[in-house]
Amino acid sequence: MEATEILRALFTSDAASDPYPYYADLLAAGEACHPPRWSSVFVAGYTAIESVLRDPAFEVQGATGLDESFPAWREHPSMSKNSVLDLNGGEHARVRGLMSRAFSHRRVASLAPAIAATTASLLNDMADLGGGGEPVDFVAHFAYLLPVIVICDLIGIPQADRETFRPLAADLVAGLLGERQRAADALAVADAATVRLNDYFTALAGERRKYPRDDLLSVLVQVTDAGDGRLSDAELLGNLNTLLLAGFLTTTNLLGNGLALMLSDPRLATAVREAEITAADFVEETLRYEAPVQMTVRRAAAPAEIGGMPVSAGTQVILLIGAGNRDPRRFASPDRFDPHRSDAGTLSFGGGPHFCLGAALARLEAMIAFPAVLARFPAIAEAGEYRRIPGLAFRGFERLPVTVA
Ligand code: HEM
Repeated sequence: MEATEILRALFTSDAASDPYPYYADLLAAGEACHPPRWSSVFVAGYTAIESVLRDPAFEVQGATGLDESFPAWREHPSMSKNSVLDLNGGEHARVRGLMSRAFSHRRVASLAPAIAATTASLLNDMADLGGGGEPVDFVAHFAYLLPVIVICDLIGIPQADRETFRPLAADLVAGLLGERQRAADALAVADAATVRLNDYFTALAGERRKYPRDDLLSVLVQVTDAGDGRLSDAELLGNLNTLLLAGFLTTTNLLGNGLALMLSDPRLATAVREAEITAADFVEETLRYEAPVQMTVRRAAAPAEIGGMPVSAGTQVILLIGAGNRDPRRFASPDRFDPHRSDAGTLSFGGGPHFCLGAALARLEAMIAFPAVLARFPAIAEAGEYRRIPGLAFRGFERLPVTVA
């Protein structure tokens, strides 16, 4: 099949539920392709994706790219381009340096006891809900809540504020994907949520300025207040919103994907429960096999090449992470789920200067959560219709009903 035909088929809703056969066809056709008359280049090969992510000729879209593709973006608060994910070169290095300081290994590792306690408490709630054999939605009652609570802890959002805060975060996500993606007011919903979140964070930042605590917001407020333009107020808000989204949407998918794999293969669940497969190996292979973020985008800032194919300046480049993770040139039997593989590795957290800041945190959450779920609910089983997140960009579940008793 021609690359153009494969891509057309890939971007239909049917393919989104199982994109892997399409990825395999693309990979067989080569590392990258630029279908005639299409404005974007598509990259499926592991090596090519990795080299684009590391090549300074390719930049994140940021303000410049959006000025070309969607000039009205500045009128939409939810599209603000002030976070680490939107910056390139020296600007990116400056903000990333400040963020990573606030994101130290010590800070992440120190969250382990709180993650374990939150996990136990959410599992108790699930046991209460499903104790009589009623189906409980693992996404709504666990996979969504654990990362939100953890990111709230990390940022320093007080317990008392979480009930007002959670629906805003949910609106932001729903505006970006989910059901409202199909509604005309998608952007309006995300914009309204962003305005309220910005108001909320501005007020909380004011409090932390007066009374600093041992949380990420206090650290970020201090660098903002350093007064030498190192992190502007707009950047502070942009980064908090990005952390919020990046911090739970993706981890929710990892948790749902891993559980779904074990539900469909009880031998796998037994091996993880009995630690024949370590939680770390299981998490790593889940990340490779079902990438929570299936694609990301770059723009050629200068003439460049990808796997020998010339790419002109200004071209949009779609990196198919989910395909790279299944590249037979990189992985033996890539469609086999094998936590013991000697060629382990994953593109799921990206690579190069924008490599995921929260990778260690996401891994920690999943490594604590999976064994705890299996230990608490030895008989956990699928219970009826699951629902995948629509679209191809993210891979995970909107609904994953299980029985726990
Ligand atoms: C399984 C969970 C996660 C996955 C699959 C994931 C995936 C990714 C990917 C693919 C990128 C790179 C995007 C690009 O280069 O275009 C990224 C960047 C980022 N992630 Fe994650 N992420 C996860 C969890 C988290 C968590 C828990 C946090 C924070 C608490 C986080 C914060 C970030 C940030 C701030 C960036 C931007 C870094 C930069 O631009 O320098 N992520 N993530």
